[in-house]
Amino acid sequence: MNEEILIETIKRLMVSPKGLLAIDESLRTCNSRFEKLGVQTTEEKRREYRELLITAPDIEKYISGYILFDETIRQSTADGKSFISVLQSKGIEVGIKVDGGLSDFPEHTGEKITEGLEGLEDRLKEHKKLGATFAKWRAVYTIGEKTPSLDCMKENAKLFAKYAELCQKNNLVPIVEPEVLIEGDHTMEECYQAIARNLEVVFNELKLADIFFPGMILKTSMVLPGNDAKVAVYNQEIAQSTIKCLKEKVPNEIGGIVFLSGGQKDEEATKNLNEMKNLGPLPWPLTFSYGRAIQNEAMEAWAKNPEDIAEAQRLLLLSAENNSLASVGKYKSS
Ligand code: G3H
Repeated sequence: MNEEILIETIKRLMVSPKGLLAIDESLRTCNSRFEKLGVQTTEEKRREYRELLITAPDIEKYISGYILFDETIRQSTADGKSFISVLQSKGIEVGIKVDGGLSDFPEHTGEKITEGLEGLEDRLKEHKKLGATFAKWRAVYTIGEKTPSLDCMKENAKLFAKYAELCQKNNLVPIVEPEVLIEGDHTMEECYQAIARNLEVVFNELKLADIFFPGMILKTSMVLPGNDAKVAVYNQEIAQSTIKCLKEKVPNEIGGIVFLSGGQKDEEATKNLNEMKNLGPLPWPLTFSYGRAIQNEAMEAWAKNPEDIAEAQRLLLLSAENNSLASVGKYKSS
């Protein structure tokens, strides 16, 4: 591990006023979003869509790194430029989702464990050769009467630790993404408790594995009520709870924290980040790493009118700009 390489990559990723754009939806997730919008679920359609995301003019003003899916990192524009070269020419860091998706956690109904350790080091080396400088591994947790269970949290945390260790050994910055899902009717307090307990377990395992904290990034959910809880919560309240939880549970030395949008309404994700940035100085760099909250409008516009790439790119840029403003606490809702 070369600590300097990891720190330099993180500096470029966490540079203000930028954030990350996640376009790493698995085949299944991407196809299900396409299906809902009446788009064909072919490799060419996914390529075409991601080309517009990657070639959007001026996106580098707001986005420091793209997280790609394995299929995407190997694809090229219609006129033959590799996606990686397009991103690199804009000074954008290339990231790669390296987990292998979710499988049922035996004897724990409804809980999931992340797959993908097998062959991981070879894949990391290959992705690095292709041009990736950072990676992402996601685990998910549901809030329910008995979940997330300690077993599930521990098992996923051990996997995070092995993944992060392999990334750092190969000089790739690991993004560790424990996503506490928004689905359910849980309260905000229950969400707070789930995230807090889980972060404790995750950082405990990362510490045991001797992970170099300044050379890693945490990607987390915000503290939110469940999407079926039907309660309205002020953005300020979400921001305060989230920052309180992170301050209590995340070591100050880590390289940075980024948020997933997790199915929040697009603008809510923006406003919540904006409020957090107005809470005063924080111990770590903090920004966004949204997928849906940045892509939604662009994807819908493209699905309706695939010829009008410029309009889809305009919407993508606007959304990236708004989140960039939020990342420095300067977003004003229209
Ligand atoms: O794993 C999830 C993505 O990296 C972020 O996606 O912002 O749509 O939750 P999201």
